[in-house]
Formats: sequence, structure tokens, C-alpha cells
Amino acid sequence: ASYDMGGHDTYMHKEIHEQAEAVDRVLRGRIDDRFSTVHLGGLNLDARDARAVRRVKILGCGTSYHAGQIGAQMIEELARIPADAEPASEFRYRNAVVDPDTLYIAVSQSGETYDVLAAVQELKRKGARVLGIVNVVGSAIAREADGGMYVHAGPEVCVVSTKCFTNTCVAFALLALHLGRTRDLSVRDGKRIIEGLRKLPAQIEEMLKQEEDVKKLAAQYADARSMLFIGRVRGYPVAREASLKLKEVSYIHAEAYPASELKHGPLALIEPALPTVAIVPDDDLLEKNRAAMEEIKARSGQILAVAHQEQEKADHTIVVPKNEDELDPILMGIPLQLLAYHTALALGRDIDKPRNLAKSVTVE
Ligand code: G6P
Repeated sequence: ASYDMGGHDTYMHKEIHEQAEAVDRVLRGRIDDRFSTVHLGGLNLDARDARAVRRVKILGCGTSYHAGQIGAQMIEELARIPADAEPASEFRYRNAVVDPDTLYIAVSQSGETYDVLAAVQELKRKGARVLGIVNVVGSAIAREADGGMYVHAGPEVCVVSTKCFTNTCVAFALLALHLGRTRDLSVRDGKRIIEGLRKLPAQIEEMLKQEEDVKKLAAQYADARSMLFIGRVRGYPVAREASLKLKEVSYIHAEAYPASELKHGPLALIEPALPTVAIVPDDDLLEKNRAAMEEIKARSGQILAVAHQEQEKADHTIVVPKNEDELDPILMGIPLQLLAYHTALALGRDIDKPRNLAKSVTVE
């Protein structure tokens, strides 16, 4: 497919800049202010079904898997249902235990990724209930699932996913809110999350205004041979996705690690030539994250922090607008898309079509 680039040099750049509109679309028509919840009719899950869910298992590949990790945390936090994400490609080969009280969720931009589709088919053969969180309407995974929701990111052409990732995270926030409100999430917390969701499009626009600053930072880090991304709890999947994005478009080696695990290995790598990107939300783990940055600084490591306020331990900070704690991962991913993009641009990479990669992997 070929769509107008609308004045952008690459689809990646265009798609990064379409995110405020895209988020607006995933929210549209779904919020129910009267009951502080959302309408997700396509789930085919009534309140009784929702209450019967004992666990949630999310399956996806690549960026969709990382969106699933963020989604799992949102579901645990807002609905208090144990949830986790796993690469669909691993799940389908390990003869996983399929449990009738678990709600399975398949995540896919294209809706055609073979490993995800095969996992869905295997689950259905074993009688499981599977929902799809998919972008492409009418795609194979959407058709195969028992229900689900479209993320309405619009067509995504660049091989690496940006706007669909963001919209999938927002879709998970809606699902978590919905599940939460059939359980113990209060009206007040429901309202708080809805207000946070409504703020996102304007906050995304605000974030994107910092592009020139991120571009300057990217120029400084473009000669790194390797980069470390760290985060804790909500920040960890953000670090993983940022590290994947950088690898995919710039070909710089990157590794994501939980900040809490630094002392169990990666500290040995720290030296001036290995920069660290630290995801530092202003939540109850802020002090812990500051301590991790101190450990890195003490070993002469350079640090770029992505945070809600200037970090004195870091060499540079990208300040992201604050939202509700549970929704912070959504906005924190955005400057890191810009960082990957501008690093790749500085290195002259083929941004929309990175070597060896395909937009959707429809074969085994
Ligand atoms: C490929 C793409 C990735 C994408 C993954 C899953 O590897 O290069 O960008 O995240 O497939 O694709 P899906 O369409 O299922 O989200």
C-alpha cells in the first residue's frame, strides 16, 4: 500500500506525528461518563463473563508483545486480575497449559502474524476464550478471535510500529478500566483514569514539540556502539520497547534491563562508552530509580533520563508531561520513538524498511 506522506520524509516520521489523532480515535465513542467506565461491545464479554476471569494471558510478537506487557500491568493495577504477556512464538511451541478460567488476548497490528494466529488457533482448539486487540479490520486474527477491539491507529506503513504501539497501550487501558469497573475499581478511580485518557492527545502534541531537542540528543548518541535501557515496573516495558525500536531502525545494539537487576550483572558493562537511557517516572519508585542512576554515574556512565522532572544525576533529561501513574508508560514511549528515529536518520539508515525485517511475518 502507498499512502501520501503528507510532507514528511518517511512514514515513520509521519506516523509518530499522527499519534494525537490516533489516540483520539481509539477513545472515541467508548467512554461512559455516567458510570465512569467504557463501552467495548466487540469484546462479547458480559459482566458475568468478565467477573469469571481468573487470569489474563496476553500474546503477541515484537512491538505488540511489549504493548501487551504494558497492558498486563494495567490490568493487574486497575482490575487486580493476575496478568502477564508472553511472545506468541514461545507460547505456541511450549505446549502451554490452557486454562478455561484464563482470558487470552492476542495482540497484533497487522492481524496476520503467523505465530500469533497459530497460537490463537491452538487456544481455540482447546476451548479457550480468545480476544483480539488488532489494528487491521477484518484481518485473520480479528476474524479468528471470539471478540475484541480494534485500536484504530489507521494505516501503518513503516516496518517498525509507533502509532499502533501507542494506540494498543491505550486500548489496554480501556480494557483494564472496563474489567476494573466490573470488580473493585471505584467510580472515583474510574473517573481519574478517564480524565487521564482524555488528556493524552494534547500531551502527545506537547511532547512532540520537543522533537528538536531530542534530535540534538540523538546526534550525540549516534556514535555509540551499544546502549543500555533501564526501567523499573511500569518503566521496564517502556525500556524494552525503546531498545527494540533503536535496534530495528538504527542497527545500534541495545539491551533493556530492569533497573533493579543492574547490580546482578549489567553494572560490569558500565563505562563512558556505554550510554544508559533511564526511564524515571515520578511515581513511588522515583527514589529507587535515582539510586540506580547514581550507581551508573559512580562508574562514569553517561545517562539520558526520560522523566517527569529534570534529573540531576543524568547528563540530559527529556521531560515528559505527567499523567496518572498507571498511564505514564504511554507518553514515556513517545520521545524514545523520536530518539530511535533521529539516531537512524543521523546514521543514514533506511528508516521505513530496515534491513532483514518485514512489516508482518506471515510465515512460520
Ligand atoms: C514484525 C514487525 C514488527 C512487529 C511484529 C509483530 O516483526 O517488523 O514491527 O512488531 O512483526 O507484528 P504485528 O502485526 O503482529 O503487530
